[in-house]
Amino acid sequence: MDDELNALRRTRMRWNTPLSEPHAELLLDRMALDAGHDLVDLGCGWGELLLRAVARTPGLRGTGVDTDVTGLERGRAAAGDRAVEFVEADAAAWEGRADRAFCIGSAHIFGSTKAALDGLARKVPSGRLLYGDGFWAAPPNPAAQEIFGPDMLTLPDLLDAAAAAGWRVLHFSTADQLEWDDFESTSRAGWAEWLAAHPDDPRAGEVREWLDRRLREYVRDYRGVLGFTYLVLER
Ligand SMILES: C[S@@+](CC[C@H](N)C(=O)[O-])C[C@H]1O[C@@H](n2cnc3c(N)ncnc32)[C@H](O)[C@@H]1O
Repeated sequence: MDDELNALRRTRMRWNTPLSEPHAELLLDRMALDAGHDLVDLGCGWGELLLRAVARTPGLRGTGVDTDVTGLERGRAAAGDRAVEFVEADAAAWEGRADRAFCIGSAHIFGSTKAALDGLARKVPSGRLLYGDGFWAAPPNPAAQEIFGPDMLTLPDLLDAAAAAGWRVLHFSTADQLEWDDFESTSRAGWAEWLAAHPDDPRAGEVREWLDRRLREYVRDYRGVLGFTYLVLER
């Protein structure tokens, strides 16, 4: 898909994860952010939660790391004069240290959930991590397994992996059905609106196929099967 459509696809999403506004506020509260903290968001996308964290915490310094230039440009445009730097880099190879970190929906950068929890422990030697990741909330069918791969854990196994990597759980919660349905709907809305306005565009067929497949897979294969948890972890 070309740059124009790629840029359009996520424009209706607040952030790229199933998360309501009140749930986001709760998670930021639990992170106990303070002036003087360095907060890094690894796999930040356009960094909306990072920007909100910095906006509500004077003196907090934020860094967002991602490889997606479109997302980084959106983040920089939204940042204004907030103390946030957006860096184009492989987050797994980021060599900085932070006392606060976010890694939400981005474990795949490290290769797996377990590798992410280990790798993040090296980047946060002492402090708090807001970690968001998928898990099997119900046994997956073969199609869901194919979509999400062999490394997805159950929630108990994910919590065990966090403990094995040296993290203590301060908070955990899971995305509810409305957060999931809104996430899926907004992830389709940018292209759905474009398609309604450009039904005869040469790219319309490919966009329609993607929209139909995404909705079909969600409703048939992983709605209620793939869960998503938010952990505030400390070490
Ligand atoms: C599901 S999105 C989550 C984005 C963001 N954390 C949020 O909650 O909105 C996963 C992100 O990982 C980024 N990503 C993939 N591989 C990466 C890498 N090697 N280094 C940094 N970011 C990467 C993608 O560009 C994407 O923005």
